[in-house]
Amino acid sequence: MIIIKVKDYSELSRKAASLVAEELAKKPDLALCLPTGATPLGMYEQLTDKNLDFSKATMFLLDEYAGLGVDDEESFACYMCLNFLDLVNFRKENVFMFNGKAADLDKECEDYEKKIEEKKIDLAILGIGKNGHVGFNEPGSSFSSQTRVVSLSEQTRESNAKYFEKGEVPSKALTVGLKTIMGAKKIILLASGAEKAEVIKQLVEGEISYQLPASVINTHKDAVLVVDRAASKLLK
Ligand code: F6R
Repeated sequence: MIIIKVKDYSELSRKAASLVAEELAKKPDLALCLPTGATPLGMYEQLTDKNLDFSKATMFLLDEYAGLGVDDEESFACYMCLNFLDLVNFRKENVFMFNGKAADLDKECEDYEKKIEEKKIDLAILGIGKNGHVGFNEPGSSFSSQTRVVSLSEQTRESNAKYFEKGEVPSKALTVGLKTIMGAKKIILLASGAEKAEVIKQLVEGEISYQLPASVINTHKDAVLVVDRAASKLLK
């Protein structure tokens, strides 16, 4: 994994956006897998400002809460529309997001996995949880996991409670699996802030283990970690 150290969050956002722009320039029909959360917000802002042409590109949302749909403001689909999709020019038919309200969530995940298999992800952008999750692949997730319904850990539900007015975070979610993520041609993992310093140390210096789902990315042949000073402060 190549490590790119930057000064702070705004530099991280600019760097991430320029890496995406480079890939899009090489391949206008780029298939992206994209995360939500606090970390990529600056990148989305930068990407929007760059006025890039996404008309031939495809995007897959990385994960979603079970029980939520695009009309729910806490849903990742809603986040993605507000922060990125409504501001750029993806074609509707090239945007794939989970329907967390589907009657059969397992089938929803199976269909999603098939769509990804068909299109093939060129570039997966990821954030990392304090417990080492990527997407909603929580500690203990198999490296051979595909897109599926998962139970969220207490730590993840606590971290995300700030986004829910009544603090009631769903207990289940749908996520692109670790094997599916690893199938991407390129992976860019973003980490910012001191609260990620411990997990970044484990990721870079620790063992590859199911207990740290993100650690599998160390075995990918084209993975880049973009990390700011605060998140990399414990690295040797
Ligand atoms: C979000 C996602 C999560 C986040 C992670 C970090 O779609 O898949 O894995 O990337 O929880 O979240 P932030 O960026 O809010 O620290």
